[in-house]
Amino acid sequence: MNHDIVERNVGLLAVFIALVISVGGFVEIVPLAMSAAATAPAKGVKPYPALALEGRDIYIREGCYGCHSQMIRTLSFETERYGKQSEAGESVYDHPFLWGSKRTGPDLARVGGRYSDEWHRTHLNNPRDLVPESNMPAYTWLNDAKIDASLTPAKMRALRKVGVPYSDAEIAGASAVVQGHTEMDALVAYLQGLGVARNDDPADGARP
Ligand code: HEC
Repeated sequence: MNHDIVERNVGLLAVFIALVISVGGFVEIVPLAMSAAATAPAKGVKPYPALALEGRDIYIREGCYGCHSQMIRTLSFETERYGKQSEAGESVYDHPFLWGSKRTGPDLARVGGRYSDEWHRTHLNNPRDLVPESNMPAYTWLNDAKIDASLTPAKMRALRKVGVPYSDAEIAGASAVVQGHTEMDALVAYLQGLGVARNDDPADGARP
């Protein structure tokens, strides 16, 4: 009977829907935000070194996430192909995270160490030199563009404000580390670091 009243009154129905969604959201989101497993770094996970951090910005600028996810699901056909499933604690230093969902290309969450630096350079210059059927674009300009080393410390300071534990010494030395490197160097450094902290973990689903 009461149900009938709610179903016939759109305003009331909307209020109840909002109420149910709020409670549902609250009980799902609040415990997660407080759980150490989701907010503390997973074992071995460290903030991005200066050059890799710059590479991450190139990855974002070039829209690589439009074709590549960085989130291995728990399903066996994913873990057998890509390696151990992703954990929340692996993304704590990612602001913003780059999990993505579109996979025109393979997931890259654990691509670090899978290929040589030379492989990545050749591939980014022209993917079809290595994978003839690839539809990934070529990124030739990365070879010539230099990273602006003067911005790196500011980026690290900004990340420190949101909880990434860069030390004063790391920030002070960042420009010198990045100086003279091309965008290609930075992007390859970033790719080679992806997932490596957890790649060798013997837990279920580790890449053989
Ligand atoms: C239009 C979609 C598209 C975009 C954009 C794209 N890729 Fe790809 N990528 C692919 C496809 C498809 C493959 C699989 C074929 C190949 O290896 O070239 C691939 C493969 C890769 C691989 C090899 C992965 C593996 O496990 O074999 C890497 C690394 C990679 N891409 C990095 C990048 C980076 C870095 C960018 C941005 C600069 C980028 N991709 C942008 C589609 C894309």
